[in-house]
Amino acid sequence: MVEFKYIIYEKDERGIAIITLNRPEALNAFDKVVINEVLTALKDAEKDEKVRVIVLTGTGEKAFSAGADIKAMQGMTPLRARELSILGNTLCRTIEDCGKPVIAAINGYALGGGLEVAMACDLRIASEKARMGQTEINIGLIPGWGGTQRLTRLIGKTRAKELVFTGRIIDARTAEQWGLVNMVFPAEGFMEHVRKFVAELAEKAPVALQIAKSLINKGADVDLEVALTLEREGFAVVASTEDLQEGVSAFLEKRKPQFKGK
Ligand code: CAA
Repeated sequence: MVEFKYIIYEKDERGIAIITLNRPEALNAFDKVVINEVLTALKDAEKDEKVRVIVLTGTGEKAFSAGADIKAMQGMTPLRARELSILGNTLCRTIEDCGKPVIAAINGYALGGGLEVAMACDLRIASEKARMGQTEINIGLIPGWGGTQRLTRLIGKTRAKELVFTGRIIDARTAEQWGLVNMVFPAEGFMEHVRKFVAELAEKAPVALQIAKSLINKGADVDLEVALTLEREGFAVVASTEDLQEGVSAFLEKRKPQFKGK
């Protein structure tokens, strides 16, 4: 097992892998080391057949992540800024392209790059203590890990501009109303609530989940005719799985299906 400096990586018997950002002294800010460690854990979780769902969260109650490491931005040249943008985007793309659901469990602040990484995840679950914002403007910057694009696609131009222009931080309930997070759970026992929810996903048919994820992600950026064609082909692929036969039999036999990812 690889030793990590800034993340905790765990897997349980229900097929849940949890990646916990663990750099509390910097509110789990992402530097190169953190990003590379998360990438390593994600790749392991993706190829481990026993893992059905991946959770990304932050240590403690204060922060999911306060974004890119601001200390590392002192004297930053355009070339280094470009590298930083590419690295963060690689992380976001890896999450989106991962063949398993990746769920952001937003336990506290998700700001700047922290929110951008959460937005690349498939679902966002917020603690009632979570706070979110694209705060880059407050340090004279703009989002660089997809914030101007994913935020707009998730909540529309009106609210995206409000967050990006003002740098304001919103609470979990507001984020839920705006469609930025899927659900809000109590802060007390937050990770237990998250585990219970993701355990449901871990029981679903893995190939169907993988293809549905890819269709929703890719289909949103092409025209409807192409997207529907992709869906039809994906539907045909899922029809070839043993899991579909298991699901149909289980329904007819009035029992719970046991999906194997085959
Ligand atoms: N990078 C590096 N260190 C950070 C950090 C960050 N993004 N955010 C917080 N920290 C550090 C602080 O410097 C402080 O360290 P020291 O004790 O060594 O001074 C420690 O974490 C605790 O932070 P605060 O004392 O500021 O805690 P607070 O409770 O008073 O405030 C906060 C919390 C509102 C989240 C505040 O820390 C804050 O505004 N952080 C910056 C958030 C931000 O602007 N993020 C965007 C970064 S740019 C970006 O992400 C670009 C991109 O798109 C990729």
